[in-house]
Amino acid sequence: MRDSIETVRARLAGARTVAALTGAGISAESGIPTFRGEPDSLWEDHRPEDLATPEAFRRDPALVWRWYLWRRSVVGVAKPNPGHAALARLAGRFDHFTLITQNVDGLHEKAGHPSDLVELHGSLWRTRCLGCGRRREDRRCYPEQFERFPPACDHCGGLLRPDVVWFGESLDHSRFDRAVRAAVASDLFFVIGTSGVVQPAASLAGLARENGHFVVEVNPDATPISIVADVCLRGPSGDILPQLF
Ligand code: OAD
Repeated sequence: MRDSIETVRARLAGARTVAALTGAGISAESGIPTFRGEPDSLWEDHRPEDLATPEAFRRDPALVWRWYLWRRSVVGVAKPNPGHAALARLAGRFDHFTLITQNVDGLHEKAGHPSDLVELHGSLWRTRCLGCGRRREDRRCYPEQFERFPPACDHCGGLLRPDVVWFGESLDHSRFDRAVRAAVASDLFFVIGTSGVVQPAASLAGLARENGHFVVEVNPDATPISIVADVCLRGPSGDILPQLF
């Protein structure tokens, strides 16, 4: 492990452009459960897969909103951990550093991440209007805090939805484009705390590798990404990342 850490440190010293892809694992040490590897988490007898869909929202927007507000209240009290802090430090050292996250928890931002942040799966802390498409930051956690519930747009009166990607939806093209450009252009590509099974995010490491870049995985467990990684650092990101940066 010591040798692998030294190898990555040396690569970092010589790199001009760096990118990282993060997943739920980086927030595990902040007390936010990951998606896979935990027993199914139930909320009022509903499974996440049954709520995070466009169909569920069409059927019962108030129910889906109450679940998202509950998630906001859980995530809202979580604090960034040493893994988030180390990445924010690293980003501050490079002119070209792109952080691509699949997480919607906002903890990279809370850790003071200074540069290019691509939220591939959106953010729990933003709404999008189904009428006019406007996106707004929204930090409310309780139905009583809204004038109308489910919430409506104060510009056009349209129904607001959480600005996250649901099962069965495609990613925002311009966000994914930025992620692809970063994977293609970065000398060094980190893949941190993701199971690597959800596409198209999982394909980014392979893309970096095909373009001749050095890929580093940080994860306590092996994943489908491990085979394309040049170095796998096995352990929690809150332990590993502060040793690198
Ligand atoms: P997963 O829950 O699939 O995977 C979490 C990964 O983090 C696993 O590989 C764990 O081994 C690893 N892990 C656990 N603890 C860790 C720690 N302390 N440090 C580092 N790694 C750790 O989460 P994602 O890969 O992020 O999509 O899931 C991808 C997407 O699937 C999510 O964004 C979500 C879900 O469907 C949407 O909601 C659109």
